Amino acid sequence: MTYTYNKNVQTMIRAGRVIPSGVYGHLGPAEGCMIPSSAYPFFAAKAKGAEIWDPDGNRFIDYMCAYGPNIQGYCDPDVDAAAIEQIKLGNCTTLPSTVMVDFAEYLTNLVHKDWAFFCKNGGDVTSFSIMISRYYTGKKKIIFVKNYYHGVAPWTQHPDTPGTLEDDCKHGLYVKFNDIEDLKRTIEANKDDIACFIATPYMHGNFVDNELPEEGYWKQVRELCTKYGIVMIIDDIRCGFRLSMEGSDRYFGFDADLITFCKALANGYNVSALCGKEFLKGAASTVPYTGSYWMSAVPFAAGLANLKKLVANNACQHFYDMGTRLTTGLEKAAKERNIPLKASGHPAMFYLRIQDELGNFRLHQEWVAECVKRGVFITNHHNHFICMAMTPAIIDETIAICTEGMDVLVRNHPEEFKK
Ligand SMILES: Cc1ncc(COP(=O)(O)O)c(C=O)c1O
Repeated sequence: MTYTYNKNVQTMIRAGRVIPSGVYGHLGPAEGCMIPSSAYPFFAAKAKGAEIWDPDGNRFIDYMCAYGPNIQGYCDPDVDAAAIEQIKLGNCTTLPSTVMVDFAEYLTNLVHKDWAFFCKNGGDVTSFSIMISRYYTGKKKIIFVKNYYHGVAPWTQHPDTPGTLEDDCKHGLYVKFNDIEDLKRTIEANKDDIACFIATPYMHGNFVDNELPEEGYWKQVRELCTKYGIVMIIDDIRCGFRLSMEGSDRYFGFDADLITFCKALANGYNVSALCGKEFLKGAASTVPYTGSYWMSAVPFAAGLANLKKLVANNACQHFYDMGTRLTTGLEKAAKERNIPLKASGHPAMFYLRIQDELGNFRLHQEWVAECVKRGVFITNHHNHFICMAMTPAIIDETIAICTEGMDVLVRNHPEEFKK
């Protein structure tokens, strides 16, 4: 029996009347993320641990984890208890709560940086990192790694993006990941005008196999940035606290000047952080930057409880183990059926793709749809996430459901998978 979504669809029709796109951005079908949209629910009714339930009562094991924030499991009792305690004391107050300082002390110590600055979303802190770099260096240009994503602010966009000006992206330079010669050439050609280099710790782009750094790549990038006075920014918004509790720069053996965190910081409570080295603290104090809710206390209390619990439970080992159990199980089942399924990236944030000979997503999307309609929420375009609530039993249930999806695929396309 596969799921039906009548109440979801009815709610989407209502949403479309009063909300642009009904559900906008990557959480809705308009961006082409949920393909085919007939396979997906559009709304959640409740969530607990590794699972969500939609308005039709369908239950899903959720490997999107709210696109990252769900790191403990939804409605984690310890994180929620810390938040509720803080609600009783006050949340958005004229003066910041002392819990902001507790959180900054804990976080900076954990990730080996000298200061922390808190905002709300990932894009707030990536934007701030660029402003700080430009102010500190007095230079304009930003080196991006092709196929990057650092949010939706105009400086992150391409010239033809609706709502942005050509001038917004005129200071971007673009290099290929893992290609140190490309970076050297780019620096050489622009060396008097580069403020910063910004990149994720590895390439976890959409609709492409994810790519880990080659041996020695980050060490050489670090050396070049130091040599040419370029501020080195690591955007750890997606990977942060999934690869290592000390920050993904440490995980890959180097020390970034600025590092951004967001998604997994507070198990869904809204806070992001920019952490940096001492030499940039003056610039961070001088660049004007603030927001109405940036010092609200509840997310700080939740974040503190969240990070402490992740450390106490050796979380990153769990993510690695469960991610490996799932991806090896899926690849084994696929191989037995002659389906060329590949998992790429880090096991804690695996990306899946059936490698269609023609290089398109036809068969992959069909398999993903069969999994979703049976209760495993995955997507065809994006990396997935492991959370603490994913136990071996949940992983094995997932493999069984996804294998059923593979059998449907083979039944529908016997010619494509014949041995
Ligand atoms: C690597 C990376 N940087 C920046 C962002 C932007 O974060 P936000 O959507 O919270 O502004 C994201 C969000 O997916 C991200 O994955």
